Amino acid sequence: MPRDVVLLLLLVVLGASSGCLQDPTPAYGLTGAVCRLTYPAAVVLNEKTTKVIEAAFQHARYPSMKGEKSLLFIGRVLYGLDNLEIHNLSIGRSAFELRPGEGIAMEISNVSAVFRGTIQYGYGSWLVNVGHSLDFEIESQIDLGINPKLYCGEGKVAADTSDCYLNFHKLRLHLEGDKEPNWLKKLFTDFITFTVKLVVKGQICKEINKVANILADFIQEQAEQFLSDGNISVDIGVTTAPVITANYIESYHKGLTNYNNTTAVIRDSGFHPSQLTEQRMLYFWVSDQVFNPMLSAAHLDGRFQLNVSGDELSNLLQTHLSSSSPELITQCLKDPSSSRFSVWSSSVPRLNTSSSGSSVWTQASAELHCGTGGTPTLSFQTDVILDVSVSYSEKKLFMQGDVKKVSLIRAELPLQDEKLQEFIREAVQKVGVPEVLSVLEVELTRLLDKQGTNLFTIFNPEVLPGDGFTVIQMDFGFPHHLLVEFLKKTLQSN
Ligand SMILES: *[C@@H]1O[C@H](CO)[C@@H](O)[C@H](O)[C@H]1NC(C)=O
Ligand SMILES: *[C@@H]1O[C@H](CO)[C@@H](O)[C@H](O)[C@H]1NC(C)=O
Ligand SMILES: *[C@@H]1O[C@H](CO)[C@@H](O)[C@H](O)[C@H]1NC(C)=O
Ligand SMILES: *[C@@H]1O[C@H](CO)[C@@H](O)[C@H](O)[C@H]1NC(C)=O
Ligand SMILES: *[C@@H]1O[C@H](CO)[C@@H](O)[C@H](O)[C@H]1NC(C)=O
Ligand SMILES: *[C@@H]1O[C@H](CO)[C@@H](O)[C@H](O)[C@H]1NC(C)=O
Ligand SMILES: *[C@@H]1O[C@H](CO)[C@@H](O)[C@H](O)[C@H]1NC(C)=O
Repeated sequence: MPRDVVLLLLLVVLGASSGCLQDPTPAYGLTGAVCRLTYPAAVVLNEKTTKVIEAAFQHARYPSMKGEKSLLFIGRVLYGLDNLEIHNLSIGRSAFELRPGEGIAMEISNVSAVFRGTIQYGYGSWLVNVGHSLDFEIESQIDLGINPKLYCGEGKVAADTSDCYLNFHKLRLHLEGDKEPNWLKKLFTDFITFTVKLVVKGQICKEINKVANILADFIQEQAEQFLSDGNISVDIGVTTAPVITANYIESYHKGLTNYNNTTAVIRDSGFHPSQLTEQRMLYFWVSDQVFNPMLSAAHLDGRFQLNVSGDELSNLLQTHLSSSSPELITQCLKDPSSSRFSVWSSSVPRLNTSSSGSSVWTQASAELHCGTGGTPTLSFQTDVILDVSVSYSEKKLFMQGDVKKVSLIRAELPLQDEKLQEFIREAVQKVGVPEVLSVLEVELTRLLDKQGTNLFTIFNPEVLPGDGFTVIQMDFGFPHHLLVEFLKKTLQSN
């Protein structure tokens, strides 16, 4: 059984490495894979925006602040703000809007939080840190607005959240003890109110920018990992900046397979936005020019190999063929434990997708060994063309194959027997191809699971053929496991 088989399905695509074109039209030709996330998907993802913003608030570190003021009769008062911490954060709701050609507008309203800290103060020439100190607590209610712009930074999707503002609805100061003279309270109230606004705004907006970029990197790393297996990886760096319309966000990726120090090249991939609709939550457009180098790498990596034991072969031939096995094979399988059958790809498989379906052409070689001798009893090579359709349901991948052509291009048989050759052709078509596809189904499902596909809640995924490309479209539920991983990562980054 092949331990690993090439990854045929692309999911979650966003990526790394450099080279971005300003103009989307020439960039389309270099784009191997496209990811379109529509408004309904953004609504689902926005359900947990509050969690991400909470992470931003909680991980923000607030710098200490110092100030001084000259007062009548008292002279100079020095003061400082230390140990500012945030408690009991809660976020009312978050809303967003896609602004065509601009970005995403987000409103996070009713953030209520308690800030706690210490004020140090001293009169005259006393140093603040040897003066008095007083703990304080501020109750606040804030609305937060962020208008992230997506751009292509170092070949990756990056977020610029510098358009960020905070509105304070409430800022109520409580000083511990309340023993201080009124003028002092008044001074601190003004100072703290002003300072906290400044510090909080600066730090929160900075933190949101940081979190947004950790998030962008996180998604891109996840996607890269998803598309890597063993020595095969895929460069999903972007070819141009993402496009935002009123109903979707679309990103454009290279989709270049890397294997054994060689990188695939894509030219005129033929992407056009009209090849995707807008009703489903998530679309992946994948060019044949992405799949073919993947198939090639998998072939070179020796992944298309299958060994079948004598027992299995016996079973397969009995249950699937009407005509009885030729004498040669019957003799061989009389002692199944000492016989084995191997099949492998002997040329790079080629995929050609058209709107009527995907066609795969490959050459396969096979050997039947009987007994312990090193020389195969039977050895042959065939050309196979089949139409393949792929589907995914109940967390399993399914492949349907319709054999269009089987021809024997080489056969080393003990006797040049017409009947034996005819038997082999029939066996390849009726037993070989279905068996290989059923092994591929299991292996690809296993590979998808290893990459975490089964952790996503996916609804009604469809794999649709186009002219030189394939569209994978689906709806999904909120990916909680990614949020957990992401929050862990933000925690670590502080
Ligand atoms: C198939 O069997 C051959 C000979 O025993 C072995 O060299 C090869 O690694 C096996 N391939 C797989 C995929 O198990
Ligand atoms: C946070 O909320 C809890 C429960 O509502 C309350 O007991 C606690 O005093 C609050 N903490 C602050 C700093 O307000
Ligand atoms: C914010 O909270 C206040 C009281 O907690 C409530 O009256 C108001 O409707 C909320 N506003 C929004 C936009 O959720
Ligand atoms: C990757 O390639 C190297 C060198 O060709 C090889 O030693 C290694 O075993 C391969 N790793 C996997 C997981 O196939
Ligand atoms: C990897 O590349 C080297 C040199 O370019 C070549 O000799 C070798 O056969 C290649 N290996 C595979 C598995 O394609
Ligand atoms: C790829 O090239 C690097 C340096 O050029 C070399 O160290 C590495 O072994 C090569 N890997 C393979 C799989 O050939
Ligand atoms: C792919 O299939 C289409 C339609 O069946 C055909 O016109 C085209 O020539 C094929 N392309 C390749 C590269 O075989």
